[in-house]
Amino acid sequence: MGRRAWCLLLLGVLAAYYIYTPLPENMEEPWKLMLIDTSLRTFVHLGTFVEFLGLCHFFDLFMSTMSLREAPPTSDENVTVTDTKFNNIPVRVYVPRRKPDTQRRGVFYIHGGGWSLGSAALKNYDLPSRWTAERLDAVVVSTNYRLAPQYRFPIQFEDVYNALKWFLQKNILEEYGVDPRRIAVSGDSAGGNLAAAVTLQLSDDPEAPLRPKTQSLIYPALQALDMDTPSFRENAHVPILPRSLLVRFWNEYLGGDRAVEQAMLCNRHVPEEAGPLLGRVNWSSLLPQRFLKGHAYRAPTFGSSELARKYPGFLDVRAAPLLADDRRLRGLPRTHVVTCQYDILRDEGFMFVRRLSDAGVPVTHSHVEDGFHGALSLPELKICSRMLDEYLSWLEENL
Ligand SMILES: *[C@@H]1O[C@H](CO)[C@@H](O)[C@H](O)[C@H]1NC(C)=O
Ligand SMILES: *[C@@H]1O[C@H](CO)[C@@H](O)[C@H](O)[C@H]1NC(C)=O
Repeated sequence: MGRRAWCLLLLGVLAAYYIYTPLPENMEEPWKLMLIDTSLRTFVHLGTFVEFLGLCHFFDLFMSTMSLREAPPTSDENVTVTDTKFNNIPVRVYVPRRKPDTQRRGVFYIHGGGWSLGSAALKNYDLPSRWTAERLDAVVVSTNYRLAPQYRFPIQFEDVYNALKWFLQKNILEEYGVDPRRIAVSGDSAGGNLAAAVTLQLSDDPEAPLRPKTQSLIYPALQALDMDTPSFRENAHVPILPRSLLVRFWNEYLGGDRAVEQAMLCNRHVPEEAGPLLGRVNWSSLLPQRFLKGHAYRAPTFGSSELARKYPGFLDVRAAPLLADDRRLRGLPRTHVVTCQYDILRDEGFMFVRRLSDAGVPVTHSHVEDGFHGALSLPELKICSRMLDEYLSWLEENL
């Protein structure tokens, strides 16, 4: 073989090494997933590199590429789509075209993206919102919110809360023909975190115009105290949300100090003030037996108290709904939690389900045995329509 052939072979081997990710056997369409994961990893590497060079923030590159995937608010034959503002927060509203028989359901949706990325206009959110409106004959409000690193906790939470409270006003619901007794709050990933947080806040807010009938939390992030649960250990490198990226997302949301990120990676970031709260995220007592196998429980190591003062979000239920006490949990509406086996966030979803049912909240848990984080945003994969169908079926029955 000539030198060129050797070079090609070497490149081929390197490319295969870069693309190939060992995946669990029961995962569907593994090669497609590997390719998606490769492009994501490439972005993470590029982002790290441009940030290292001081050219721009890690997320800028993601953001500018993602914006290419945004769709304008185009109405189609079934749904009227409008961009507007609720309480100054930009939202996209989907209203079915067919004549309503009665008042409609309302679905308030919060997109994911680590509190740093994404928008309601992204095709992976725009399309499911159309389908939701169409299938449930519902008015869907898909909200935006200001993002990290420019804006940090509690801005994201407050934007979503303000938009939701605006929607829940009597005159607004009337304007859209929405039945105030049939309103759902839903979100995926960071959006699931925000959905749980705003629903919790509503149940305790004397000024809340009304309360939703259900909440749907799709692979939500629910706590940032213990970064070493069994699912963190098992799925640290599984597509498409590696542990390092999740820790970065949390840190950008709550503080932005890179030293805290290092502490989080070693689970040494927890301020002493968190002591009394650790029982609420104690996976050794809250997880089903089958997830404990082979995992010794180690409580997070206390770091400095300065952290709690500088970044109070770590201990705030508006950022970490799993930290809510039982009294507050009892105020929550009927809940649907979707978790995926191959997701670092799996265990906090399980713990939330356990704590909700202990508190007497009606809860449906759909655990996807071959699922992974972010599957609902990847319409090119079959698992996406399966999970979307399950989520919508639940709403059809319960909303
Ligand atoms: C509108 O609804 C019909 C019937 O459900 C469906 O066949 C069609 O594809 C929908 N159109 C769009 C643009 O989604
Ligand atoms: C967590 O739960 C285990 C088992 O129930 C218990 O032994 C341990 O003390 C608990 N730790 C914390 C910090 O709550």
